[in-house]
Amino acid sequence: MKIETILSPAELPALARRDLRQTACVVFDILRATSTFVTALHHGAKEIIPVSEISEALAFKKSKVQSPKSKVILLAGERDGVKIRAAQTGGVDFDLGNSPREFTRERVSGKTIVATTTNGTRALRACAHAKLVLAGSFLNLRATAEFVRRANPETLLMVCSGTFEQVSYEDVLGAGALCDLVWNGSGMSGISDSTLLVRQIFQLAQNNLLAAASQSRNARRLLAIPELKDDVAFCLQRDVFDFAAVLNSEGKIVIA
Ligand code: MLT
Repeated sequence: MKIETILSPAELPALARRDLRQTACVVFDILRATSTFVTALHHGAKEIIPVSEISEALAFKKSKVQSPKSKVILLAGERDGVKIRAAQTGGVDFDLGNSPREFTRERVSGKTIVATTTNGTRALRACAHAKLVLAGSFLNLRATAEFVRRANPETLLMVCSGTFEQVSYEDVLGAGALCDLVWNGSGMSGISDSTLLVRQIFQLAQNNLLAAASQSRNARRLLAIPELKDDVAFCLQRDVFDFAAVLNSEGKIVIA
């Protein structure tokens, strides 16, 4: 298996021109989108539909307004880390933000969640034409690695969603940790330099991941918001969920 890594959102537009038919993409938005989506699935959400723009989320909900299904659709997402409010949408308050701790069983069980976040949902959509797309997080890292190993794609492409237009340290740590589990160390020929980088950065930080990730730009922003600061420690927990989360051919993230 070749292993490549996209470090920053600047690399996403090129994916549209790339043949990903033999590629498995694992998208990391450790703080917080992909961590939040796997938490929602763990708590019984039926599916998560990632969309890039607020307008797409609103249009999806509007298209279902006449259907009984509309009752089970929740709008979720953030801009600048905080829940999307009526002032940003022309009158509709989103039901949920992007804090994994909001996605409790009581709120999300049986629900379809349409989610838009600054970086994470954009990265997931950019990979949608790949053979396989997984939402990766520390929360389900081992299960994700096992799923990738079983799928045995020609290429594993780890996608770091980033923070705004920049690389983000916590996504690099996530990708490095996955590489550590998936790569058996045999042969360097299919390992990109960006993959070597993320693996080595993870290995330096692995004994105190939370302290390391807490230095990142996105973590510092969350740590400064009293009601969101606990999200950082939540998202840095390892292997608390035993399933992989896949973006299916209908564009919905479900338990694999
Ligand atoms: C994103 O997609 O950019 C994020 O998950 C940001 C956040 O909510 O912390």
